Amino acid sequence: MVNVPFLTVEQIDEAVDAVRRLTRHQPSIGLVLGSGLGGLADLVQQPDTILSTDLPHWPKPTVEGHAGRLVIGQLEGQTVLVMQGRVHFYEGYSMSQVTFPVRVMQRLGIGTLVLTNAAGAVHPAFIPGDLMLITDSLTLLGVNPLMGPNLDAFGTRFPDMSQLYDRGLLALARRIAQENQIALQEGVYVGLSGPSYETPADLRFLQLAGVDAVGMSTVPEAIVARHGGMKVLGISGISNKANLDGSTETSHEEVLQAGRVIAPKLEKLLRAFLREL
Ligand code: HPA
Repeated sequence: MVNVPFLTVEQIDEAVDAVRRLTRHQPSIGLVLGSGLGGLADLVQQPDTILSTDLPHWPKPTVEGHAGRLVIGQLEGQTVLVMQGRVHFYEGYSMSQVTFPVRVMQRLGIGTLVLTNAAGAVHPAFIPGDLMLITDSLTLLGVNPLMGPNLDAFGTRFPDMSQLYDRGLLALARRIAQENQIALQEGVYVGLSGPSYETPADLRFLQLAGVDAVGMSTVPEAIVARHGGMKVLGISGISNKANLDGSTETSHEEVLQAGRVIAPKLEKLLRAFLREL
């Protein structure tokens, strides 16, 4: 792991060229699979699989449950680029590295990004196994992913974030869930740096701040996606109940385990979503 504070457009385009050399497909939709959800990449038809180690500047995942592969191919009539696993700020990568794959997707011509993650429930009614549409998010990672030189080729210095999660995509996801009888929660996701889970005091603070689910990813990718003009849909798989009174413990094993319950529901939702997009 080498921390590179700010990657350039030239470095992004080197990775873009490498991806183009390694696939026959021209993807238009990006899909990032979070902790324990990477198995969904196996659904892709005519897959071209690229290892992140084959791409220049591409950050390599260091944690279990994140394979670090790109799978490009067909899914429900769409050409998709699926990222099986992501890297996180807590791994020691810079924000520029954490969001590098989003930049590469933008230069590949991908206009829609679906971000998934495993998250802890702060909302008292959410239970492990639930899916939650992300309607908005709080950025509490300590830094913003757009800090540093602005990449003018992608967007402006001070981008608007009033609709970080696209209203049209949210409406489509709601309709599809209803038609397919998939239960969907909705709420505000907070992106924290991690890697320690929250204390009960952290969680009570977050609840007072209007947070429904808590995790360590997604927000940087969403902000960089919007900066570059992508439409973003965010979906959390609730893996555990946040421990507001300190009576239960949270572990990465629990989070990965919950992925097995969440993945089939997410598959159903994503397949129908892609069919209708
Ligand atoms: N907190 C932070 N991140 C998480 C959690 C949690 O409880 N569950 C899965 N990712």
